[in-house]
Amino acid sequence: MEFKKVVGARRSIRYYQPWRPVESAKIQKVLEAARLQSNHGNAQLIRKAVVVVREETPKEIWDGLCEALYNQPAAAQAPVHIYWTIDMSGWDNLRPELLKLIEAGALTSSYGWSEQFVDDVVMKTPDFNVMAGDIRFAEWLSAIETGLAIGSGLLAAVDEGLGTGLLTGKRERIRELLDMPEHATPAQIQLLGYPAEDAEAGGQRPRPDFEELYFRGKWGESFERDPEVVQELVDAGAIQASAPQPWRKAEIRALAGLFGLPE
Ligand SMILES: Cc1cc2nc3c(=O)[nH]c(=O)nc-3n(C[C@H](O)[C@H](O)[C@H](O)COP(=O)(O)O)c2cc1C
Repeated sequence: MEFKKVVGARRSIRYYQPWRPVESAKIQKVLEAARLQSNHGNAQLIRKAVVVVREETPKEIWDGLCEALYNQPAAAQAPVHIYWTIDMSGWDNLRPELLKLIEAGALTSSYGWSEQFVDDVVMKTPDFNVMAGDIRFAEWLSAIETGLAIGSGLLAAVDEGLGTGLLTGKRERIRELLDMPEHATPAQIQLLGYPAEDAEAGGQRPRPDFEELYFRGKWGESFERDPEVVQELVDAGAIQASAPQPWRKAEIRALAGLFGLPE
């Protein structure tokens, strides 16, 4: 799918076909997209994931995970869960991974990068070597880069024709059920499956006005939105009809009937 169309077609899908498994190749492509996202200091091993496929999972673990996802109905319906996790031990790799970027010709000597610069400056500066500074900042940054990976994973799922969405869960319980070490924290859970609702899911969900979100030059001076660019994005499928579409209530009623859920 064309990139702009992928961006525009993504929705948080909340109804899945429980009877239709997801091909392993598609799961892999989601993970591959996440792996290629940028990393702070190239530290690489901070964002990890446990993929849980319903058919491969003991019932008590699967049921425990669905309960840990607050029994949100989509959790039991979607045949695949990706438990995106922040592993703070990944920061141990900062130095060797940065040196790999120098070897790869990505960080260059003309930009002042050398092994000595890494040791004398980067490793001693908490803004770069976040574990040398405030742990809250380190955790915050780890969450940002895990979020970047998840964002790519969501778009890759849409590109593969899957329904996807994120769920929040009980982190301690998930850690326990999936045998995660203390230094790993489940961040967000991505569902994968074929949507039981129309992929449009009632239209693009509301967003604040562009001008309220983005400024130019200084805070408070709105970035002016060019209507021609908006039209270009509409034509490319990035900006789509807003929710709720007129048929959405009827669709939800039908889905509630299908899954035995309240309307
Ligand atoms: C970090 C994060 C956590 C979320 N957790 C949940 C959740 O637990 N349950 C849920 O139904 N949706 C969850 N969502 C989905 C949002 O509610 C959704 O993004 C919002 O409704 C906007 O809709 P859209 O994603 O379809 O554009 C989460 C989204 C994010 C980014």
